[in-house]
Amino acid sequence: MNQIKVFSPATISNVACGFDVLGFPIYSIGDEMIVKKTKKKSLIITDITGYSVPYDINKNVSTIAAKAMIESLNPNCGFDFKINKKIIPGSGIGSSGSSAAASVYAINKLLDSPLNENELISFAMRGEVVSSISEHADNVSPAILGGIVMIKSLSPLEVIKLPTPKDLYCFVINPKIEIKTSFSRKILPNKVKLKNTTKQVSTFGSFIHALHTEDYELIGRSLNDYLIEKHRKKLIPLYDEVKSIAIKQGALGCSISGSGPSIFALTKGVEKANEINRLVTELYKTSGNDFSTYVSKISEKGVSTMSN
Ligand code: HSE
Repeated sequence: MNQIKVFSPATISNVACGFDVLGFPIYSIGDEMIVKKTKKKSLIITDITGYSVPYDINKNVSTIAAKAMIESLNPNCGFDFKINKKIIPGSGIGSSGSSAAASVYAINKLLDSPLNENELISFAMRGEVVSSISEHADNVSPAILGGIVMIKSLSPLEVIKLPTPKDLYCFVINPKIEIKTSFSRKILPNKVKLKNTTKQVSTFGSFIHALHTEDYELIGRSLNDYLIEKHRKKLIPLYDEVKSIAIKQGALGCSISGSGPSIFALTKGVEKANEINRLVTELYKTSGNDFSTYVSKISEKGVSTMSN
């Protein structure tokens, strides 16, 4: 195989109760990439469509991740990248994670799969680090593995795929304003209250238990963020109003997606997610901000090969 086209999904990370350690992909949006083997042993980006990202291979997360990977594998070829950047950078739905996952997955396939999924996640993270100035695997892991994923540890990397209750749907609104992850992390405090940490640990634990037991009511009582939301929500237009609509319509929970500005809500069944979509769209039209919304089942599939 000399060329491959891949789809790499957007991801919702943190999932309210698991800052830096929980994430899942959605079906509705993702980056597309065509990667081709070249005779010359180098990396080149020859085309970028969609949102603007750098052509410079030392600045683009896809090629930064790819570079780390080929330095380790030393293949007898180079790679040409054509990127269709569908996820706006700084969106909070794993834009850089999606691109990094796409390139390492594509190269691995073109080289007859020498690396396992854990190794791919490690190399994809090398791209993420550059874009967010921090190590976190809660976007790249679900983008590669699919399903709800928990990051047990970064060093050594240990990720655990959790069960996805079948009626779980996700609503997402992506206001088209850029919030850089590096900035969104800089505004977080270095110290948190012990009382809040205790509450967070218990809701994280109950969320994991609820996924295993398909207990939607307990999922609803676990999707709380006692540590991060209060610091970041001020960066997001109409955050409280969106959350209030989602909760009134019976969402199991609603919080910031990743480092924002996207907001997500989880629902049992698609009808509630569609109704939240309708009402939040009406509200957001009045805000003067451009935005997109998505309703999706939690995707069991990570990055995958496209047919052409
Ligand atoms: N867990 C990371 C954060 C995700 O919230 O900063 C960034 O997309």
